[in-house]
Amino acid sequence: MKDFNIIIPVKSFSCDELDEQRRHLVDLACEATSRSYSPYSHFRVGAAIELDNGEIVTGANQENVAYPSGTCAERSACFYAGAHYPDAHFVRIAIAARGTDGEFTAIPTAPCGACRQSLLEYEMLAGHDVEVILYGSEATYVIPSVRMLLPLAFTEF
Ligand code: THU
Repeated sequence: MKDFNIIIPVKSFSCDELDEQRRHLVDLACEATSRSYSPYSHFRVGAAIELDNGEIVTGANQENVAYPSGTCAERSACFYAGAHYPDAHFVRIAIAARGTDGEFTAIPTAPCGACRQSLLEYEMLAGHDVEVILYGSEATYVIPSVRMLLPLAFTEF
């Protein structure tokens, strides 16, 4: 028997420490929260994905009265990107969320497991790391790749 630990590297920034490109992506993710349709949870999530063709696509969570029929911000953005720019590769994604008080979460909001798995598919298609930026009003986390957010991922059958 062998024990091993899986450690993921996270850089924590204050917002003004981010470079202009990342700050811009975070701004677009924050703005996308205003297009969230979340009458049930009142939790507004926005995502912005930078593609290697220069485009940036955004998404927001879209809920449904039949709860499981809704989708998260990250998947609405990544499926939009796949549907509109099938030949482009993801470069990075920024995610932001506003809680029931309407304020951006102080602690970064991280993607759910299903979104991590979906994003991983596009990272594998890209053939390189896709950076993940998780915005919080008190700290913003930068993780070098999606696979680091999903250790021991299911990647083939
Ligand atoms: N949500 C996202 O948009 N992204 C996540 O990664 C986690 C949760 C949404 C789904 C639902 O509309 C609301 O947040 C509350 O769970």
